[in-house]
Amino acid sequence: MKGGKRIAVITGGAKGIGLAIALRLVRDNVIPVLADIDGELAHKAAAELCAAGLEAVALRLDVTDEGSVTAVLAEVDQRFGSLDILVNNAGIIGLDGGRRPLIEGMSLQLWQRTLEVNLTGAFLMSRGAIPLMRRGRWGRIVNMSSRTARTRTGPGNAHYAASKAGMIGFSRVLASEVGKDGITVNCVAPSKIATAMTMAIGGGRDLLEKNIAETAVGRLGEPADVANAVAYLCSDQASFITGIVIDVTGGSFMP
Ligand SMILES: NC(=O)c1ccc[n+]([C@@H]2O[C@H](COP(=O)([O-])OP(=O)(O)OC[C@H]3O[C@@H](n4cnc5c(N)ncnc54)[C@H](O)[C@@H]3O)[C@@H](O)[C@H]2O)c1
Repeated sequence: MKGGKRIAVITGGAKGIGLAIALRLVRDNVIPVLADIDGELAHKAAAELCAAGLEAVALRLDVTDEGSVTAVLAEVDQRFGSLDILVNNAGIIGLDGGRRPLIEGMSLQLWQRTLEVNLTGAFLMSRGAIPLMRRGRWGRIVNMSSRTARTRTGPGNAHYAASKAGMIGFSRVLASEVGKDGITVNCVAPSKIATAMTMAIGGGRDLLEKNIAETAVGRLGEPADVANAVAYLCSDQASFITGIVIDVTGGSFMP
């Protein structure tokens, strides 16, 4: 807390779902730190928030780089003296030349990079953030999973699915380790959200219509739909909720 406001680090916060989470959390009296490998874009986004009279900070972060993670968390500690919320949102799909590679054609490098960004990054960030949260005896960690990890998915996604399923197992164990310190750990598993990442997969109008048809609500989701779920998990109202997954899929997946 600083001046009655909670401090949140949002990885991959420069755009898409991460930025939507930042925009949503400011409404709950939170100062978001937009931490992104694209430092320039993060600074631009934070500057826009500040120009609108809101408080936000941008820091360049590579979640796969232990030194970068340590430096960012040290900077947050020095600047604010606390860390209350961590949203492990940074992620990549791991396309190969714009395509989803099948296992037999998948390079070890692409497999490892996808796991490193999507899963190891959450481990490094959480490991570094927990001591800061323990100090305040309050914390919220929200990890970005995906519907891909929750149910049958099409071919060409093994590395991504493995990383996002790993996020769920990781969150459950972490929730058990830190629960008594007032820290909750949960996952959000989105699908059918209209962002640059999903549009990068391509498929045109047909795929778009197929995706909409698969939802119960008859539309694609907005990044704000995911942000609302994250904001709830980060609130005081969610203090008895830990180790779970909230599916934000417009009803395209009903467990
Ligand atoms: N868009 C969807 O429909 C959807 C569905 C399920 C899950 N997700 C997950 O939600 C998260 C955000 O997705 P999005 O659609 O907003 O993606 P996006 O590509 O718009 O944003 C991802 C952000 O992560 C950043 N990033 C990438 N590598 C990084 C690294 N090593 N260190 C720090 N930052 C890094 C990028 O610069 C970018 O700003 C991802 O984890 C994604 O897997 C998205």
